[in-house]
Amino acid sequence: MSMRATGRIGDGATGRRGDGASGAGFTPSPLDPHASSPGRPVASSGGPVIRLRGITKVYRMGSVAVHALRGISLDVYRGEMIAIMGPSGSGKSTLMNIIGCLDQPTGGSYELDGVEVSQLADDELAKVRNRRIGFVFQSFNLLPRLPALRQVELPLIYAGADDRRTRATTALELVGLTDRMHHRPTELSGGQQQRVAIARALVNQPSLILADEPTGALDSQTSLEIIGIFQQLNREHGITVVFVTHEHDIAEHTRRTIHLRDGLVVSDGPVANPRVVG
Ligand SMILES: Nc1ncnc2c1ncn2[C@@H]1O[C@H](COP(=O)(O)OP(=O)(O)OP(=O)(O)O)[C@@H](O)[C@H]1O
Ligand SMILES: [Mg+2]
Repeated sequence: MSMRATGRIGDGATGRRGDGASGAGFTPSPLDPHASSPGRPVASSGGPVIRLRGITKVYRMGSVAVHALRGISLDVYRGEMIAIMGPSGSGKSTLMNIIGCLDQPTGGSYELDGVEVSQLADDELAKVRNRRIGFVFQSFNLLPRLPALRQVELPLIYAGADDRRTRATTALELVGLTDRMHHRPTELSGGQQQRVAIARALVNQPSLILADEPTGALDSQTSLEIIGIFQQLNREHGITVVFVTHEHDIAEHTRRTIHLRDGLVVSDGPVANPRVVG
């Protein structure tokens, strides 16, 4: 399955659309377990992308143990779009960091497309992360001096990829930032900075995008534009999207909401009338 950039996305609010169709193909990487774990069995194709069973996380601070996750079990299927909600301290970021292979659980099982990743060494975990997962943070995490295009090229440099300029340009096209490619973060609005961060998350063509409060630093109009980008990546490119939010009206733009409390899932169900941006 090959896809092309079909134009700027997330531009519903500004009315710009459909004039960026010249990009190179955009194809999310399949979650092929062989790519990072030779000799492992291949998952059955209909299985969940993410399968968590009894995930626990204990932070030890001196003699104090903080039980941040106390047994999380859930399945996420390819093409889903999910919001994770819950009070401050309920374990949302801890869970996202584990799903995103940025951290390891203390206990339990995590299969990413059929491959157990909860026990991988740091360098193996980094490989899985770089190839399969795009991560977006609340605070954008951009480097202050680099123009947008260079920021987006960075993951490709780490991966030793060819065609860096073309691929970074395509990713920026997908988030509607073609005309801001040469600007530094200080010359961009918050929403534009988050678009750069999303383009950076996209550039390795992951099949899974994770975002921890991606709209937490943005006003409500800009938040909707960013959610519109996620919706379009999900709808048109089949990318699985999981993000954390505190805002109910943002969560209503997904199809499934999971609520955490005290390190446990307290509810997990479909959104009654999912809203669409644009
Ligand atoms: N590195 C750490 N060391 C020790 N305790 C931690 C660490 N990270 C998180 N915690 C604790 O684990 C619990 C869950 O934290 P987490 O950051 O996952 O919550 P959260 O749901 O993301 O909250 P928020 O909505 O405020 O972002 C909290 O009690 C927190 O203090
Ligand atoms: Mg958090």
